[in-house]
Amino acid sequence: MDANATTPLLPEVFEAMRPFWMEHYGNASSIHQQGQQARGAVEQARTAVARFLHCLNSEIVFTSGGTESDNLALFGVLSNETEPAHLITTTIEHHAVLNAAESLEKNKVEVTFLECTPQGLIEPAALQAAIRPNTKLVSIMFANNETGVIQPIAELAAIAHAAGALFHTDAVQASGKLPLDLSADGLLKHVDLLTLSGHKIYAPKGIGVLFVRRNVRLAPMLHGGTHERQRRAGTENVACIVGLGKALELSSTWLASEAPGKLAALRDRFEQGILAQVEDTGVNGDSAPRVSNTSNLYFNHLEAEALVIALDLKGLSVSGGSACQSGAAEPSHVLTAMGLSPGRARASVRFSLSRLTTDEEIDEALKIIPTAVARLRELSPTWSRRESVAV
Ligand SMILES: Cc1ncc(COP(=O)(O)O)c(C=O)c1O
Repeated sequence: MDANATTPLLPEVFEAMRPFWMEHYGNASSIHQQGQQARGAVEQARTAVARFLHCLNSEIVFTSGGTESDNLALFGVLSNETEPAHLITTTIEHHAVLNAAESLEKNKVEVTFLECTPQGLIEPAALQAAIRPNTKLVSIMFANNETGVIQPIAELAAIAHAAGALFHTDAVQASGKLPLDLSADGLLKHVDLLTLSGHKIYAPKGIGVLFVRRNVRLAPMLHGGTHERQRRAGTENVACIVGLGKALELSSTWLASEAPGKLAALRDRFEQGILAQVEDTGVNGDSAPRVSNTSNLYFNHLEAEALVIALDLKGLSVSGGSACQSGAAEPSHVLTAMGLSPGRARASVRFSLSRLTTDEEIDEALKIIPTAVARLRELSPTWSRRESVAV
């Protein structure tokens, strides 16, 4: 139950990639037949990605993953500004955006970090109020990796555009879970840059996409060949690009089926099952719109890290905070930004289901978790004090 950290390859994705490791291993820039075969596969995958996003093939840039795409969006737009430029982002972004913004700040970019509500939402009015005449870029994530909370991206992007700023969204945790329509009639028509990552959508790790709307001027971060229309130098990762294209084709089919509704029902059954069996617990971001696979729960009177280890010993993989933050002594920056006390943030665990999660696995989780929580709480001084007060 840690699909927001990463997902396995789907068998169809693996099969689509297979020939491109050993048989068709050409360099997509070579003019001979082997090279052209690789080029054909890359362009076919680009078409699949563009179809998924409802955009032009030329608006797709393949990168090494979500982190690179986020960095390319921020640095690509802001690093060549000659006048002092202003960036607006939020306190709940993934570190790929947060740390890129902090780095830009050291290089004379003015940065505003918007605060979220206790439900983890960024209010359009807060964005409106933060806009300055020199605001060049607004970067707000689509769905949060820890809580699954979905931001009102269409409204936020429209505000940025009305003020003449570009809008980037990190859609790593929304892709494969929500439809993404960047066309002129689509919900995301005001989005100029959008990040995807392969390994959250059943494609390999180390492959990603940055959508760059036509007419957006982007300075490359890597200096080398003219790959990806001079926006991202480096020999294309053909097999992984093929895998990403296949994964997005499968995502379209999955999204159009009854499966998302079933996954949402499974997540809700899980959440309700835990709340019914375990006292002094709750859902972080429960009344905000959330992607249907994510459940961030706090279990008062215990440390998330201890629960993560206890569940791991029972064969259940979950995360305290995000995977990238696990092992960090600090409580989650997302949960503290939502106003949770450090204690409650440290008692919060992320459960994230995948398309492959079964009813039986949820039954098993509903047995394992309450027992593990009860055992850990027996060792907690605050829990025993609380019981004696109740008696
Ligand atoms: C919201 C979000 N953005 C960016 C990333 C980074 O993506 P990648 O692991 O492909 O670099 C992640 C990965 O956890 C993420 O959840």
